[in-house]
Amino acid sequence: MTHIANYRETFLTYLEEKVVLTEPKNLYEPILYILQLGGKRLRPVLTLMTAEIFGTSREKALDAALAVEVFHNFSLVHDDIMDDAPLRRGKETVHEKWDINTGILSGDAMLIIAYQLFENYGDGVFRKLAQLFSKTAIEVCEGQQYDIDFEVRNDVTIPEYLKMIEYKTAVLVGAAMKMGAIVAEASEKDAEAIYDFGRNLGLAFQLQDDYLDAYGDPETFGKQVGGDIIENKKTYLYLKAYQNSSQENQESLQHLFSIQPEDTTEKVETVMQIFNESKAPEAIKEAIESYTKKAFDVLETLNIEATQKQLLKAFGTQLMNRTV
Ligand code: IPE
Ligand code: IPE
Ligand code: MG
Ligand code: MG
Ligand code: MG
Repeated sequence: MTHIANYRETFLTYLEEKVVLTEPKNLYEPILYILQLGGKRLRPVLTLMTAEIFGTSREKALDAALAVEVFHNFSLVHDDIMDDAPLRRGKETVHEKWDINTGILSGDAMLIIAYQLFENYGDGVFRKLAQLFSKTAIEVCEGQQYDIDFEVRNDVTIPEYLKMIEYKTAVLVGAAMKMGAIVAEASEKDAEAIYDFGRNLGLAFQLQDDYLDAYGDPETFGKQVGGDIIENKKTYLYLKAYQNSSQENQESLQHLFSIQPEDTTEKVETVMQIFNESKAPEAIKEAIESYTKKAFDVLETLNIEATQKQLLKAFGTQLMNRTV
């Protein structure tokens, strides 16, 4: 078993043990459904790995790891409502399988469960974890609001987009790692550096998510391919395509990203053509590499063993090349 699969295994065993069905079923069944639907478990694995890297046992970090994964899944349940998404991890989204109200309330409960898990830590660590978590969670809300606001704007800039993805996605990856450092009682300097590593990796991760949303294989991706185009998301692909297109294609892009046709086939096809012509996929791949490299540069400032740095680099490289 690879090192990473081993952390995932530890986490999954704990998840099975801790997340059990109770009454009322209509509140807890959707929670179990989404948490057991699979997923890469990227964030909890990072929490456990980081705790070990800074010299404590992974077991001590399990509650923090679970909190991060429960929060992540809460954000997905609400995100799928906001994005009108039919599929998650190859299955029906919670609001499709049940209804929107169920998605809202089960999501709310998950957010609270995530907070509760920090109560298993002693005063000092609890305080630090809760503080980081609150800051991160509010930033995720801000990022999600920008994401929605951008759907109806046609003047979104690349710096605005980057700030939006930093908030909606990257800060949680950074926080997942910093929580491992907090549990291990690492120095403030190391905790900050690992946060920064995670944040840069998170930026690359969201860029790859945007890439896969348009270029992923519908058989394996697990989400509706083209979903971002259908929802008029001003992703890096759109912004780069717009930047590098003829005036005619710019007008076409702007028009297509302001409408919501009943049948989306033609819209998606035309947009993909413009993306390809303008070399938007090449541009996004460059950005993904550049943020991954930035993350690796941060590693050099860390006071940990070379083998541990290698482990983190291998993880980053794997993420950059992922297909799901
Ligand atoms: C999806 O996250 C939401 C984003 C921030 C891009 P993941 O791609 O980590 O989703 P799962 O948990 O593996 O399904
Ligand atoms: C998700 O961004 C960010 C959060 C859930 C906070 P996306 O909307 O791109 O995520 P997916 O593609 O639905 O997983
Ligand atoms: Mg979404
Ligand atoms: Mg979204
Ligand atoms: Mg996405």
